[in-house]
Amino acid sequence: MVVNIERLFSKRATRLRSSEIRELLKITQIPGMISFAGGLPNPNAFPVEIIHECIEKVFKTDISNALQYGTTEGLTSLRGVLAQRMRSQKNINCELHNIIMTTGAQQGLSLVALCFIDPGDTYLTSVPTYLGAIQAFNAYEANCESIPMDEEGIDTDSLRRNLERLRRTSILPKFLYAVPNFQNPSGETMPLATRKELLDIASEYDFLIVEDDPYGELVFEGEMIPPIKSFDKRGRVIYLSTFSKILAPGFRLGWVIASKEILDKLILAKQATDLCTNVFSQYVAYEYVNGGYLDRQVTEIKRLYKRKRDIMLDSLKKYFPKSIKWTVPKGGMFIWISLPKSIDTRLMFQKALSKKIAYVVGEAFFPEGGNYNSMRLNFSYSEDDVIPEGIKRLAEVIKEELATSYQQESYVPEGV
Ligand SMILES: Cc1ncc(COP(=O)(O)O)c(C=O)c1O
Repeated sequence: MVVNIERLFSKRATRLRSSEIRELLKITQIPGMISFAGGLPNPNAFPVEIIHECIEKVFKTDISNALQYGTTEGLTSLRGVLAQRMRSQKNINCELHNIIMTTGAQQGLSLVALCFIDPGDTYLTSVPTYLGAIQAFNAYEANCESIPMDEEGIDTDSLRRNLERLRRTSILPKFLYAVPNFQNPSGETMPLATRKELLDIASEYDFLIVEDDPYGELVFEGEMIPPIKSFDKRGRVIYLSTFSKILAPGFRLGWVIASKEILDKLILAKQATDLCTNVFSQYVAYEYVNGGYLDRQVTEIKRLYKRKRDIMLDSLKKYFPKSIKWTVPKGGMFIWISLPKSIDTRLMFQKALSKKIAYVVGEAFFPEGGNYNSMRLNFSYSEDDVIPEGIKRLAEVIKEELATSYQQESYVPEGV
């Protein structure tokens, strides 16, 4: 008998859809393609020699344990040095029982959804927002309430209005998801005052804040702004971070900081998911942090990415028409482009590909769709000399599109 696999899939699995970004990564491997699409770190930012040294150290000291199963919460020594770093660098009140290791920050998001979302539950997010978070929450059948971003990071008036509307229909959101530093996709940073206000609002309406911070260390300009978690006295904030952008994403190593009460539940959920995070990776990462390599490497990564950001910003100024706006990120890996309303970046995408240039359509970062006149550009991955050429190609595509849309707008049919 032929297996009718569609009948056997759970309703949850049927809801899972392929991500536009993951599909895009395949297209961008075409030879000659310049891709500002993926969110990849630059391979030159991987500390290959240092990793080699750290692995040798693990082989000399503790290889049997490094190859064994580990505890679900993660390697105690690694959690210890990270907790210390979070206290001194981010002013987060973090003891050993407040931190667990995860298989990337992405698993942290997924565990949060598993533990807090029942089908039909509501969460809040500023938009545009990180596509992987939308996917993680959607997998558990969550409803999303989108709150627009503004120059203050999130429009808190709109947030309050939405919360009042939800309250009138007895909907109590479970959490608000935010990426306050050099956000993916906008590159924007949330000011200190908004961070504090968000925590006040969360307390007033009784929901959690899921603070996702993969880019917080990659500061090119200005001071590091304290995370929302650093003001959290009552266990209302779940803070996530990762080694993906400060070591290498192939390690698949992230961490979650939260109250013991929340972590105990996440640990149970994680146990059922993967027993433990890659133990060998954790041992190597411990040597990396404890040996003082991390700080040195972050300095190198910031220097590399700042240079690439500057090249992209200079190229945008040189080649892009005046009617186009873009963000000027003070760190991280992304620039957000806002085009005139007449341009639909979905329709323009094929034309861009034919000129061998790729971006991510802005719509992908809005759970409810729309915002067709926006796109995300990544500046960390491409080689320095490729960035101006890519922006030049993109500018040509946009100029052609603007010219066509202008002709269409100025065309007045006979008889009108
Ligand atoms: C905002 C945000 N959160 C989480 C992740 C996932 O990171 P990880 O590689 O640690 O799973 C990413 C990856 O790009 C990201 O941009």
